[in-house]
Amino acid sequence: MNSEIKGIILAGGFATRLYPSTLVTSKQLLPVYDRPMIFYPLNTLIKAGIKDILIIVTPEHSGDFINLLGSLLENYGITLSFKVQSRPGGLPEAFILGENHIDNHNVALILGDNIFEDDFGSIIKTFQSGGHVFAKKVSDPERFGVVKFNQSSKAELIVEKPTEFVSDYAITGLYLYDHHVVQAAKDLQPSGRGELEIVDLHNYYLRQNQLQVTVFEGAWMDAGTHDSLLEASNLVKQRGIYQKFDPIIKEATKEFCEFRKKCIKQ
Ligand code: DAU
Repeated sequence: MNSEIKGIILAGGFATRLYPSTLVTSKQLLPVYDRPMIFYPLNTLIKAGIKDILIIVTPEHSGDFINLLGSLLENYGITLSFKVQSRPGGLPEAFILGENHIDNHNVALILGDNIFEDDFGSIIKTFQSGGHVFAKKVSDPERFGVVKFNQSSKAELIVEKPTEFVSDYAITGLYLYDHHVVQAAKDLQPSGRGELEIVDLHNYYLRQNQLQVTVFEGAWMDAGTHDSLLEASNLVKQRGIYQKFDPIIKEATKEFCEFRKKCIKQ
């Protein structure tokens, strides 16, 4: 294992739940309060000191992602690369598409529509091996992968979008895994809905007693519906999340906006 942890942002998908807003653009480029959604997961990784980040995008919108982010961080010691996912085959595909990027490193995968208030830097920087996921108590667990804890607060059962109540602790869209996740993802079989399932990877590590689950208190949003997108913007404004971006992102964005303004004037 190499100690540098690699980052992946999964920013593909059809986003049909956000039609018509996503008919001609990607969900992760829609605004959340004052900037495109993708800046929030990008910030979570950069705040944790991750310097090499792969962004997985749809074929239709890859050009827009490159226009926005392609050169944004090149002067700031952060490498962003891009890969196209031809069809949404499930979250674990991120590890298969990211095989060369991950190589023999640990990896932090974050979903492009997940917005976190907390800073996970200390956990990410000290992550060694196995898997580590982050859970949050929610009122609508049927929307998520959930984890049930036993009496000693140890994870004992993980289920994707349970139809009957299992637990109200949702597993959020930030996942730390060691490089064995690539082979584990390749070995998965698609579920009944025809996708590889991230909970099958959690369960792979859980079975080996190698999955850690941390419950956190800060705000978290999965901005995948009209209501949650609106709620995300309100939350970002109310809790001042938009003011807490890493200095790298603040500087780079300012530089890019000034450059564009100059281009317009010419
Ligand atoms: O937000 C946390 C939840 O994310 C977890 O609790 C669930 O366990 C996990 O399955 C996932 O549930 P979602 O219903 O939110 O997954 P969705 O299919 O909406 O995909 C999440 C994001 O990943 C979305 O922004 C689109 C993107 N995506 C999804 C798939 C399946 C891709 O880029 N490629 C894909 O193949």
